[in-house]
Amino acid sequence: MKIAVIGLGFVGLTLSSVLASKGITTVGIDLDKEKCSKIAKGTPTFFELDLKKTLKKALKKNLLITDKLSSINNCDFIFITVGTPQKKNGEIDLSFIKTVVRSVGKIILKNKKKPIVLIKSTVTPGTMKNVILPILEKNSKKKAGKDFGLISNPEFLQESKAIQDTIKPHVVVLGGYKTKFMKKTEKFFSRFNPNVPIIITNHQTAEMIKYANNSFLTTKISFINQIANICQAIPNTNIDDIAAAIGLDPRIGNMFLNAGPGYGGSCLSKDMNALINFSDNVGINPTLLNAVEKINQEQIQNIISLMEKTLGNLMNKQITILGTAFKPNTDDVRDSVSIALIKKLMKKKVKIVVYDPKAIKNTKNIFGEKIVYAKSVTDALDKSHCAIIMVYWKQFDSLNNNSIKYMNKKFIIDCRRVLAKKVLDAEYHAIGLGQKI
Ligand code: UGA
Repeated sequence: MKIAVIGLGFVGLTLSSVLASKGITTVGIDLDKEKCSKIAKGTPTFFELDLKKTLKKALKKNLLITDKLSSINNCDFIFITVGTPQKKNGEIDLSFIKTVVRSVGKIILKNKKKPIVLIKSTVTPGTMKNVILPILEKNSKKKAGKDFGLISNPEFLQESKAIQDTIKPHVVVLGGYKTKFMKKTEKFFSRFNPNVPIIITNHQTAEMIKYANNSFLTTKISFINQIANICQAIPNTNIDDIAAAIGLDPRIGNMFLNAGPGYGGSCLSKDMNALINFSDNVGINPTLLNAVEKINQEQIQNIISLMEKTLGNLMNKQITILGTAFKPNTDDVRDSVSIALIKKLMKKKVKIVVYDPKAIKNTKNIFGEKIVYAKSVTDALDKSHCAIIMVYWKQFDSLNNNSIKYMNKKFIIDCRRVLAKKVLDAEYHAIGLGQKI
C-alpha cells in the first residue's frame, strides 16, 4: 500500500510521520521547497511533542518528502490536508484546496489505479459536493464512486497532542457514498486506529460534525469563562472547584472547563466565524455562536480593565506578559490571545516585556523590535508594573516572592491560577477567583 499526504502543516506532517513510522510507504508533499528540504532532513517546521522523533523514525523507514505533486501516482489513498484560511467576512478561503484538487484531478486522469481521495481540510457543509467533487471529475474526466473514491475525513487532533491523537483519535468520521471505496477506507482505518469508533455518514454531515465539534468546545470555554467572571465578584469563590464538581456530572464532562483569557489558536475562532457566516447565509440566526465569540473577545478587555483599575493610565507602564503561545507545549502563536492582548496594549503605548519558553522566535516575527524579549521569568519581571500570566507553562510554577522582588509594582494578573495556592507579597488577581477575605 502507498499513501500520499498533500500539505505538510500540523495535520499533514503528523499524519505522514505516523503512517510511515508504522511501516506504511508514505509520500509527504508540500509545494514549499524550503519546508520540504527541512523536513526531509528530519527537522519539523514547528515544535510538537514527539514529532521530531516520529519523523526521524519515519524517514528511516518509508517516508519520502517531496514538492512534486506527481508523486501521488499509484497511491492507494491521497489525503489532502492543506489549510482553509479565513477571509475578512469569516468565510473560508478555498483557493489552496481548489488548486490542489485541480492538479490531483489532472494526475488521476493519467492514472490506471483507482485512488481514494480523502479531504481532511476543514470545509463548510456542501463544499465536497458542490466544489471539490465537480473539480475532481472535470479535471480527471472520471467519475467519483466508480473510477476513484472521494471521502470527507475531518480531523480532530489537538496541537501539543498531535501524535497521540493521530494514533488514537476519539473517532474516525468518514463521509461519502457507501461504495467499495468506503469499505476499503473503513478497513484501512480499523487497522490504522484499532478500537476507535468509526462513523460513516454523508459528506455534508461529516463536514458539519467538524464544525459542531469545535463550536461545542468553544461553547464550553466561553461558558466556564462567564461563570469565572461572575465568581470574581463573589468573595472566596474558586472556579477550579466549580469546574471539578460539575465536570464529575457525566452529562457535562470534565474537559475544556479550564477558565482563562479566552480561546486562541488557528482553528477555534476561524471555525466559529465560518460557522456563523454559514449559518447567516442559510438564514439561521446563530445567537449562541455569536454570544460564545463575544464572551471570548470580552475576556481580553476584562484583563485590560483590571489593569487600568489598579494602574490608572497605562501609558509608559512596563507590563510583563508571561506566555505568548496560544497554549502550553507549543511554539504556535497564530491567533494567540496573548498576541491580541499585546496589540491592544501597544495602542495604549505600554512598554511590553514578554517571556515564553518556546514561542519567542514566532513572537519576534510579529513584533520585531517593538517589544522586549526576556530570557527568563525573573528578567521579564524586572521593573515591571504588572505581570500577566497568560499561558500555563510548567516553568511558571516556580514563581515566588523572590522572582517578583524587583517588580516596580507587585501586581499580578493570573489568567490560569498558576500561583493561586502561594502566599505572595503582591496584589494578586486571578480569573475565576473571588477576592480573598
Ligand atoms: C482545536 C480542537 O481542540 C481540536 O479538536 C481540533 O482538531 C483543532 O482545534 C482544529 O480544528 O484544528 P487546538 O487548536 O490545537 O485544537 O487547541 P485546543 O487545545 O483546543 O485549545 C484552543 C484554545 O482554547 C487555547 O487557546 C486554549 O488555551 C483554550 N482552552 C482550551 C481554554 O482556555 N480552556 C480549556 O479548557 C481548553
